[in-house]
Amino acid sequence: MTPPPRRLAGTLILAMAFLACVRADGWEPCVQVVPNITYVCMELNLSKVPSGIPSSAKHLDLSFNPLRVLARRSFSSFPELQVLDLSRCEIQDIKDDAFWGLDYLSTLILTGNPIQNLAPGTFSGLLSLQKLVAVEINLSSLENFPIRHLRTLKELNIAHNLIHSLKLPEYFSNLSNLGYLDLSNNKIQEIHHKDLHVLHDKPNLSLDLSLNPIDFIQPGAFDKMRLQGLTLRSNFDSAHVMKTCIYGLTGLEVHQLVLGEFKNERYVQEFDKSALEGLCNLTISEFRLAYLDDFPKNINGFFKCLVNASAVSLANLYIQSLEGLPNDLQWQSLELVKCKVNQFPMLELPSLKRYVFTANRGAISFSEFELKNLEFLDLSRNGMSFKGCCSQRDMGTTSLKYLDLSFNDVVTMSSNFLGLELLEHLDFQHSTLKQASEFSVFLSLSKLLYLDISYTHTEVAFHGIFSGLVSLQVLKMAGNSFKGNALSGIFTDLTNLTFLDLSMCQLEYVSQGVFDSLLKLQFLNMSHNKFISLDAFSFKPLHTLQILDFSFNKIVSSNGQELQHFPSNLTVLNLTQNPFDCSCKHQSFLQWIKDQRQLLVDAKNLECVMPPDMEGKLVLSFSNTTCQITKVIIIVTVVSVAVVSVIVGLVYKFYFHLMLLAGCKRYGRGENIYDAFVIYSSQDEDWVRNELVKNLEEGVPPFRLCLHYRDFIPGVAIAANIIQEGFHKSRKVIVVVSRHFIQSRWCIFEYEIAQTWQFLSSRSGIIFVVLQKLEKSLLRQQVELYRLLSRNTYLEWEDNVLGRHIFWRRLRKALMDGKAWTLEGTAGVENSQQETTALT
Ligand SMILES: *[C@@H]1O[C@H](CO)[C@@H](O)[C@H](O)[C@H]1NC(C)=O
Ligand SMILES: *[C@@H]1O[C@H](CO)[C@@H](O)[C@H](O)[C@H]1NC(C)=O
Ligand SMILES: *[C@@H]1O[C@H](CO)[C@@H](O)[C@H](O)[C@H]1NC(C)=O
Ligand SMILES: *[C@@H]1O[C@H](CO)[C@@H](O)[C@H](O)[C@H]1NC(C)=O
Ligand SMILES: *[C@@H]1O[C@H](CO)[C@@H](O)[C@H](O)[C@H]1NC(C)=O
Ligand SMILES: *[C@@H]1O[C@H](CO)[C@@H](O)[C@H](O)[C@H]1NC(C)=O
Ligand SMILES: *[C@@H]1O[C@H](CO)[C@@H](O)[C@H](O)[C@H]1NC(C)=O
Ligand SMILES: *[C@@H]1O[C@H](CO)[C@@H](O)[C@H](O)[C@H]1NC(C)=O
Ligand SMILES: *[C@@H]1O[C@H](CO)[C@@H](O)[C@H](O)[C@H]1NC(C)=O
Ligand SMILES: *[C@@H]1O[C@H](CO)[C@@H](O)[C@H](O)[C@H]1NC(C)=O
Ligand SMILES: *[C@@H]1O[C@H](CO)[C@@H](O)[C@H](O)[C@H]1NC(C)=O
Repeated sequence: MTPPPRRLAGTLILAMAFLACVRADGWEPCVQVVPNITYVCMELNLSKVPSGIPSSAKHLDLSFNPLRVLARRSFSSFPELQVLDLSRCEIQDIKDDAFWGLDYLSTLILTGNPIQNLAPGTFSGLLSLQKLVAVEINLSSLENFPIRHLRTLKELNIAHNLIHSLKLPEYFSNLSNLGYLDLSNNKIQEIHHKDLHVLHDKPNLSLDLSLNPIDFIQPGAFDKMRLQGLTLRSNFDSAHVMKTCIYGLTGLEVHQLVLGEFKNERYVQEFDKSALEGLCNLTISEFRLAYLDDFPKNINGFFKCLVNASAVSLANLYIQSLEGLPNDLQWQSLELVKCKVNQFPMLELPSLKRYVFTANRGAISFSEFELKNLEFLDLSRNGMSFKGCCSQRDMGTTSLKYLDLSFNDVVTMSSNFLGLELLEHLDFQHSTLKQASEFSVFLSLSKLLYLDISYTHTEVAFHGIFSGLVSLQVLKMAGNSFKGNALSGIFTDLTNLTFLDLSMCQLEYVSQGVFDSLLKLQFLNMSHNKFISLDAFSFKPLHTLQILDFSFNKIVSSNGQELQHFPSNLTVLNLTQNPFDCSCKHQSFLQWIKDQRQLLVDAKNLECVMPPDMEGKLVLSFSNTTCQITKVIIIVTVVSVAVVSVIVGLVYKFYFHLMLLAGCKRYGRGENIYDAFVIYSSQDEDWVRNELVKNLEEGVPPFRLCLHYRDFIPGVAIAANIIQEGFHKSRKVIVVVSRHFIQSRWCIFEYEIAQTWQFLSSRSGIIFVVLQKLEKSLLRQQVELYRLLSRNTYLEWEDNVLGRHIFWRRLRKALMDGKAWTLEGTAGVENSQQETTALT
């Protein structure tokens, strides 16, 4: 049934043709970086501007395509274009109005086109152009460069061309916004006074003349001229030329002067220390020097013409010593970047406010210096060690606000910033901090706003580590560790904190209340830790939290009920790269994820890892219905268990009642052998034997009492005895209430059973005999007893002749109630009782 080869081939060709059509119609083969906005069509062998790109495009990169010629209105279908890159498009010919219609174009890049024909109206219509990059376009003169009407132009880069003269055409005076002119790498050899006529009224211009082979500057050419910047790197082929050319700059007032060379382009071999002497006739605010091969060993006098500069920057130099700087230096800022030094340079510059010593080689350990007014100190990336840090003594200043010691070697925290209380910014990242968690290092830094101790090998063990940082807003401490991998209450003082990075800290737990004081926190990064569950409860106080990153943890699930406490102001929650458990028991968590998908990062790609049958499936595809059946089973089980528990509970609670019920049945015929069962405390046994038994059993008529010391069957459990022997065989119960009785637990136990019996037989069978006068308060402890006392027969024992007489009469009367009498005495009582009590 396979189709013949010829038909197959035909189908294929048709399909390919179809595909080709689709490609031609769409914006493909360009790369759509931002839909409708940014398109990159780099190196696609395009010979004309592609047509499928939306007219709303703002950024278009057509570099490295063989466009060759730009015809009129080549880009009129992109009226919104702001940035157009035509680098290395082999363009030789640009026609009039080529860029017509690009009213909003602000950047045009024509780098690397061998342009031979540039029509006078090439750039017409570019009403908003601010930046024109025409590097390496075979431009030999500015005279006919058709840019005179580009009044909005701010930056013109015509580096790497064939321009021979710095003489700027008159039309430059109409480019009033021009702030940056790059003429580097051209063919300018001589600069004459007459060339610079136009530059005189461009005081805001920065001019780059690097890599021009300058060998002559007419003295006075720059006199009374002001420039924003002048860059002269790799211009001179000998120290002598350099010196005379610098003299040629006499009279220039320049904000920033850059001298030196480039890494791979060295001209000056033997550098003369007096080369900079000519700078004395210039006014310079900022001076930069880079890649000077032969920087003097002894700088005595080298900087003498720069005493009035406010900022000096030295880069990529071999500085053997900074001793011998003039005393009257006014420098406020000094930068030493990527230099080679022999040791950490000694400095004594009272004027200095900002000192940057970074990425240098050769400084092994920090040594104290004296910079009285220093406010900003950056000593990062030197691989240096700090034996003591940090106090006023080390830095010789009390004004320090910014301190960066990051990317160094070991920093030993030996003092707590004594005298440096003004610090606002402190960075130690990627240096090794010693003793940082041994005392409250930052205690005095109540003005600190920013602290970075990321990757400093700090193990946080001490709770007071951040004490005193009441103003802190940003705390970065990624890549450290915590004792027991638990985050505990170290943030109590940080009430102004808005940013907290705790990523890569191997954290497993958050103790209770850790975030309670962080009422302004907006950003929290907990990624790359080892949390197992999303503990919503700890985040409850973070009402202002907006971004929470919990990616790359081991979060399986979360307690569903707690999720309602999740901060409500969250806008970004990153839970990617966690091993979610998509089983039914986490149903409410999974549902929560679905509900929150708006704020979850990459929600549609979150994957389940457990249980095995869900592995690799998407969390959002989890369906509740599969859980319904399981749920029913669970509910049934839970309900059954609950019912059984309740029954068991009830049985346990009413065990005696049930026993009684059973007992009732058994003894239900009312075999009352005894007239009364006596409940009493053993402490009152004397009274019971000597008074009660004597008077009732031996009196007339005699009563039969059930007394546990006498009548209980030995060996039978006491409770069963009481129930069987005591209650069921007795008509009445006499409770002997005394102080001992109330205090004795055993009596209370018996009494409770008696109550039950009363309840069951529903007759007022309890007679209370109160032996001593009892305080009300004592009685009230036994609420039930108190209540019964006031409801039932209640006799008070009085130990005097009259009192006894009345007592016995009343007790006998109470006991007689319901008793049937035969004259045959006690033996007959038992039998004749049956009929009467059967009524109960
Ligand atoms: C791009 O523009 C087209 C037409 O103007 C519009 O239909 C489409 O929604 C836009 N796409 C985006 C992502 O804005
Ligand atoms: C570029 O396109 C031309 C035709 O437009 C073709 O001749 C040439 O081979 C293509 N070059 C490459 C490298 O594809
Ligand atoms: C540069 O322009 C000149 C004419 O000004 C021309 O002779 C030369 O061939 C051009 N160079 C290149 C590489 O196009
Ligand atoms: C500068 O602009 C003015 C006013 O538009 C014009 O008259 C003058 O010719 C221009 N100068 C040059 C050199 O283009
Ligand atoms: C130069 O720049 C300053 C501030 O950047 C501005 O106030 C001043 O107007 C500018 N002068 C000229 C001539 O553009
Ligand atoms: C530099 O200025 C000093 C006076 O400030 C003057 O004597 C000297 O001639 C000047 N040098 C040059 C080359 O103009
Ligand atoms: C520095 O400024 C002072 C006072 O303004 C002036 O006397 C001195 O000549 C200046 N020094 C240099 C080298 O410019
Ligand atoms: C916390 O920040 C607020 C303003 O953001 C400020 O007014 C307050 O003084 C700060 N609290 C402390 C203790 O610095
Ligand atoms: C959180 O920290 C990790 C690792 O330190 C980092 O990759 C991630 O970008 C941070 N998250 C956010 C939201 O900045
Ligand atoms: C939540 O955010 C809104 C706006 O971003 C803000 O007005 C509100 O105060 C925030 N709520 C809390 C509790 O911070
Ligand atoms: C989590 O997502 C945020 C927002 O997309 C992102 O900035 C952050 O880098 C992500 N975290 C990690 C560790 O990739």
